Amino acid sequence: MKIGFIGLGIMGSRMAANLLQGGVELVIHNRTKDKAATLLEQGAVWTDSPSEMGSVDIVFTMLAHPEAVAATALGPDGFLEHLQPNTLWIDCSTVNPTFAREMVAAAQARGIRHVDAPVAGTKPQAQNAELVFIVGGEPSDVAEADPYFKLMGQRVAHVGGHGMGVSLKVVVNSMLGASMAIFAESMALGQALGLSQEMLLNTLVGSAVAAPFLAGKRPKIEQDDYEAQFPLRWMQKDMHLASVAAFEAGAAMPVANATKELYRLADQNGLGDEDFCAIYKFLNRTADN
Ligand SMILES: NC(=O)c1ccc[n+]([C@@H]2O[C@H](COP(=O)([O-])OP(=O)(O)OC[C@H]3O[C@@H](n4cnc5c(N)ncnc54)[C@H](OP(=O)(O)O)[C@@H]3O)[C@@H](O)[C@H]2O)c1
Repeated sequence: MKIGFIGLGIMGSRMAANLLQGGVELVIHNRTKDKAATLLEQGAVWTDSPSEMGSVDIVFTMLAHPEAVAATALGPDGFLEHLQPNTLWIDCSTVNPTFAREMVAAAQARGIRHVDAPVAGTKPQAQNAELVFIVGGEPSDVAEADPYFKLMGQRVAHVGGHGMGVSLKVVVNSMLGASMAIFAESMALGQALGLSQEMLLNTLVGSAVAAPFLAGKRPKIEQDDYEAQFPLRWMQKDMHLASVAAFEAGAAMPVANATKELYRLADQNGLGDEDFCAIYKFLNRTADN
């Protein structure tokens, strides 16, 4: 069994490393070759183009956004035309449900099977093979992928047919983004009122009103460490994907849409490559002015 892996960013590089550690024969590609160096030292095989993935049995993609997935799968050097019929394509990127179903149709037109398998968890969970895969697709395809999911994660939640994995993922990230933003905004209010950061964090984090994931963000905020685990730019992208999905489904998302614009403002102010908890820094900077 030969596995392909395309997209070696924060998440993909660590996921691919766990496949390698599990003894998988791995063929890799990334738009920027530098990011593959460590994996190549560990025994992965490089391909110069996605179109050279023709010999793999399963190909994983872990790419930034729908445009990156479309370019990599269907662009001039795209892999889809070059896979053997019946190959399994597992897209772990966070994309919107309609896009995922477009990729299913494009794959099926070429005799390729598709599973959407976005992940819950961030850089440390990717590193430690503790991701949760939120999966949409045919049960037999998900079963075939299961051993590889288990090398990269601790749980597989098969939530439905094609597109249902990313449907749940945009729901989850809409809550994640909005929870982070309201926490940051409320902290900024507290500090503007003269309450100390320490007292606010001691009171709020772990309380009934704060989301549990904020305990993991607390040290970053305290230490002014905004190195990206989950880049703020991709959080803004995910809020947008939730908004697009809501528009298509006839749902109203006033909070998510406002939060999306807040992340855009932070991105325009140079925080896009930092962790999405830098929204705290952004709002406190605003409060200071
Ligand atoms: N980080 C997290 O905590 C986290 C958690 C769950 C889900 N996700 C999702 O996982 C995916 C990857 O996230 P990440 O954090 O690993 O992001 P990242 O570090 O920014 O990596 C993005 C990857 O996409 C590639 N890419 C971007 N634009 C491209 C294009 N136009 N054509 C081809 N390749 C392109 C990048 O290639 P280059 O190296 O050449 O730039 C890189 O391999 C995203 O969909 C994100 O929403 C992230």
